Amino acid sequence: MNIQLMNVQRQHETYASEYEEAVLKVLRGGEYIGGKEVVAFEEEFASYQGAKYGVSCGNGTDALVIALKALGIGCGDEVITVAWTFFATAESIAMVGATPVFVDVCEDTYCMNPDLVEKAITKKTKAIIPVHFYGQSCDMDQLRAICKKHHLYLIADCAQSTGTKYLGERKNTLGDVSCFSFFPTKNLGCDGDGGMILTDDEELARACRAYKLHGSGKDGLLTMRREYKQQGRNIPENMPIGESKYYNYLVGCNSRLDAIQAAILRKKLAHIDEFVEGRRNNAKAFNEALKDSEYCTPYEAEYSYHSYYIYALRHQKASLVMKKLMDVGVACGTYYPVPLHLQGAFVQLGYRQGTLPITESLCKSTFAIPVFPEMYDSERTYIIEQLLKISKSISEDK
Ligand SMILES: Cc1ncc(COP(=O)(O)O)c(C=O)c1O
Repeated sequence: MNIQLMNVQRQHETYASEYEEAVLKVLRGGEYIGGKEVVAFEEEFASYQGAKYGVSCGNGTDALVIALKALGIGCGDEVITVAWTFFATAESIAMVGATPVFVDVCEDTYCMNPDLVEKAITKKTKAIIPVHFYGQSCDMDQLRAICKKHHLYLIADCAQSTGTKYLGERKNTLGDVSCFSFFPTKNLGCDGDGGMILTDDEELARACRAYKLHGSGKDGLLTMRREYKQQGRNIPENMPIGESKYYNYLVGCNSRLDAIQAAILRKKLAHIDEFVEGRRNNAKAFNEALKDSEYCTPYEAEYSYHSYYIYALRHQKASLVMKKLMDVGVACGTYYPVPLHLQGAFVQLGYRQGTLPITESLCKSTFAIPVFPEMYDSERTYIIEQLLKISKSISEDK
């Protein structure tokens, strides 16, 4: 057997004719940038996740950067986040000139430990970015309470958590602003790059729209006026004012979701619950089969409806298990092998090995196995058989 860790082709094949028809419609319609597919997807996705406004953009990294810019976060500010996540979570903070401050995760949920957040807050702290890691929901009530008490923004990194619920609702996983990725392997993935920012705050949504489109037009003007007001500054009298896209009021970027991707995503969104259920069914089967083994199966917090973007097992000899799994044709991997506080790009922040013990230990002891919804039952059975054989052989060699 040869089983891929994530198989995007099979996801395409399941509903190929629907997706291909949607792409052809866009190609023949000629509306390639913006237009009805993009607007409709923004509305449909926001409604699915339980938010009022959706602002699409080029990818999940841009979503974070744009959200931070729209909240006015920049040089001299600190943002608390986790180090066990994809690089983009903290990269976005550094990209706007702010400083990421890392806290450890909970040993069971793998998500930000709310008990460590307050100790990390300083006068410079402006926001918290928790990550619904692997698709497990963070403890949002605790994080929300901390943000409220200390007047901080809650930015949810939902790149891995489309379809995840907190206390029974998708809406409850959202922050003041929430950032999604539609990278092809994600729970809801397009056939290229894509991202989305969700919020219930109209002004914030318009600020995001401004920053994703060169700070121009009506949204740019409104946001610029708001920023001047907040800073107690007067708008210079000679400033050229107009509402077309050729009037730029803020330095933003160009970050768009292509109409083709929006059209595909609309079709996929109609099946998202089925995709998430498929992931959960695979996870359930693994949990059941491995419950008495030497593998530690993922914990699903009582408040969380886990969407299993990643299904990771823990084993004392994770590297050896991975090597043996690959030898028998089962792809696997570590998500993520280098915690962000120890990444080369953040050396100047001065973190040392041992600062975040749980994160550092989980990076070494966990590994992801295939959990994609289109996996065949025969493949799942094979993975379980191989895992059990491998753990037996490792115990016998002790
Ligand atoms: C937790 C997390 N945040 C942010 C991102 C960035 O998303 P993108 O790859 O779409 O830029 C990812 C993507 O892998 C992610 O997993």
